[in-house]
Amino acid sequence: MAATVYLNGQFLPLDAACVSVLDRGFLFGDGVYEVIPVYSGHMLRGVEHIERLGRSMDGIRIDHPMSRAAWLAMLEQLIERNGGGDQAIYLQVTRGAPPKRDHAFPPAGTPPTVLAMSNPLAPIDEAWHRQGAEAVTVPDLRWQRCDLKTIQLLGNVLARQQAVEQGAVEAILLRDGQAIEGAASNLFIIKDGAIHTTPKSAAILGGITRDLILELARAEAIPVREEGMPEALLRSADEVWVSSSTREIVPITRVDGQTVGEGKPGPVWQRMHAAYQAFKQKVREGKA
Ligand code: PDD
Repeated sequence: MAATVYLNGQFLPLDAACVSVLDRGFLFGDGVYEVIPVYSGHMLRGVEHIERLGRSMDGIRIDHPMSRAAWLAMLEQLIERNGGGDQAIYLQVTRGAPPKRDHAFPPAGTPPTVLAMSNPLAPIDEAWHRQGAEAVTVPDLRWQRCDLKTIQLLGNVLARQQAVEQGAVEAILLRDGQAIEGAASNLFIIKDGAIHTTPKSAAILGGITRDLILELARAEAIPVREEGMPEALLRSADEVWVSSSTREIVPITRVDGQTVGEGKPGPVWQRMHAAYQAFKQKVREGKA
């Protein structure tokens, strides 16, 4: 069965869904997006994802095309039309397709382009959980509003590609002597039993998975420090993790070819991974 997408008010087969070449997402990267994981037909933190989409739209001055309740109802339909189960929903809003290319905003009343589609939720590589994964460090070349989840992702794309070409699963971005976040993930450093992570600011995307990890850590009484993380802390870490909606919590056991801690997924990761899986199970049962 062909995947069904939602485009500007209609549900369509994927290959029938078309956008104008004048769309400002295509021409300027002028739009925002979300990626929402779905387990057994239920969104994980769907409301939080829609709220973040709203903050991203506010940040680039796109009027909200629908209410929170309407977003959620549309996404529930999309999930059902794509067979329920496990999915990764991709949601994008751009500043629309006016008749003429111009950097300045299009005429008032130009409708935004709204796209939502369902992708398979790729299974997580079991080897990452058994032996850990590798990351490399890369300078953070992104702009100064990394808190907005915009579709303009060139800094992230080039960083991730550099990681892939070096045989790593993620790039850890460094800026002004600090380890900031991953190319498409948040960063956690475990030192002497405490979880360190960059505080929320314009320098990082406030991950929904990051928020959940901190909530679960506090429930487990694991100390949490939301403070800047000097590069030296990364180089002397007991454990390093990266987190995202699609990859959950990935233990990083090598950074730039150097072993992290004991070179295997550590005890704090084991606890957090177990807590995260328990939370996902509640999502599957419609209880979270
Ligand atoms: N990216 N930081 C960046 C730069 C990201 O792109 C992402 C996620 C995160 C983690 O956010 P969350 O926990 O809400 O997924 C942090 C998504 C998955 C993507 O671009 O595909």
